[in-house]
Amino acid sequence: MGVYLPVRPHFICQEIVMNVVQLIRLKRDGHALTDTDIDALVSGFTAGDVPDYQMAAFLMAAFKSGMTTQEMVALTRSMLHSGVVLDLSDLPGIKVDKHSTGGVGDKISIPLAAIVSACGVPVPMISGRGLGHTGGTLDKLESIPGFTTAMDIPSYRRQLAELGVVMIGQTDDIAPADKKLYALRDVTATVEFIPFIAASILSKKLAEGIDALVLDVKFGAGAFMREEKDARTLAETMVRLGEEFGTTTVALLTRMDTPLGAAVGNWVEVAESINVLRGDGPPDVTSLTLALAAEMLVLGGAAADAREGVALAEKAIASGQALTRFEDLVDAQGGDVSVVRDPDSRRGSTALAEVRVPDDAGRVVTAIDAMAVGLACVGLGAGRARKEDSVDPLAGFTLLKKPGEAVRPGEALALVHASSSGRVAAASADLLAAFSFGDTAGEAPELIVDRLDATGWEPS
Ligand code: URA
Repeated sequence: MGVYLPVRPHFICQEIVMNVVQLIRLKRDGHALTDTDIDALVSGFTAGDVPDYQMAAFLMAAFKSGMTTQEMVALTRSMLHSGVVLDLSDLPGIKVDKHSTGGVGDKISIPLAAIVSACGVPVPMISGRGLGHTGGTLDKLESIPGFTTAMDIPSYRRQLAELGVVMIGQTDDIAPADKKLYALRDVTATVEFIPFIAASILSKKLAEGIDALVLDVKFGAGAFMREEKDARTLAETMVRLGEEFGTTTVALLTRMDTPLGAAVGNWVEVAESINVLRGDGPPDVTSLTLALAAEMLVLGGAAADAREGVALAEKAIASGQALTRFEDLVDAQGGDVSVVRDPDSRRGSTALAEVRVPDDAGRVVTAIDAMAVGLACVGLGAGRARKEDSVDPLAGFTLLKKPGEAVRPGEALALVHASSSGRVAAASADLLAAFSFGDTAGEAPELIVDRLDATGWEPS
């Protein structure tokens, strides 16, 4: 173990460099830092006083040595207070948001926000863009012509007060430390560390001014957490963190081995979300949307329990109120409502190609690798290879066959949509490679595995 010189940070002039070295050394040698240490590091880094190379060393030291709960809480608090923390307490209602740890075909936020808001619970939602192989709610919403996800805070508050729902992207003022830290983690192999992931997600969500939060924590081939045990630890960490900050937090643990629904991409996922709101969505997307809606409605005080929450959500769909709320949201954020009313009228949305079942395939689809589909979709142009890349709003796949379904040679397996044909052939080949075929398919496992709140786990 290295020598520890108990110098506390003053963060002035030359001393900055020296004291940060002490903090890195402490962390490297497995010691816990104090709240003051962590706040000094994070605020120094956000202000540009702590250089990237020192923060990178600290990140790796923490990654290798681990962090205590107290350190993680301190990190979250410093990241949360690195920017504006919204106060929505003057607006009526219990404000509830949802966050998913990311998956393929995961368009749930879109129908969910409209349903929950139509049931009377205000939903202020700040979402992200596609990350790696996973899609992002903002990229999907922006595939609606005219829809803007950039909004200043007064307009955000006004729309929430008037409409009961608002869906925007992170502003520069919200948790700026996370933005800087995430970019550094991305290039220093320190992303996959539960305390960092939990602090990153919670700092942004808590800054929204919400009263309660529902988390969809995914595991499997298409999730950031491949292993169920890691997803459980992440869920436990985030629920504990949320509660620590006075925000009631519930998590559902869900599988992400196969893409959710039939649509993977941008506009195709919006069109599928509209089907969910019309009561005609794929069973997996609809059931997960209803389960998450029920949790939000209970937290928002609109339902006594999950069963009542599901019934309320179903009623909002059946009455058309949820779809109307989505149309109003699109209208309020500058989007073209006519394509919501008639998704087939969206220009350029018809498929450019079909992927067909090969002659030597088995008779049944046994699996569709969600990660491979996500990567094929990014290759098609629906996501970004580099941060500065633009996305193709029309790029995406419609999966016509899902695991367990019978197939015949030459039958259409999927449709490929894009604004231009340049990448279609390569993406079609990549998509086909994501399918496995056989003679029999096993029973599909439950999508929603478990539920966690402050009192512990219970089967969902
Ligand atoms: N999503 C986030 O917002 N942060 C992480 O660290 C990982 C996923």
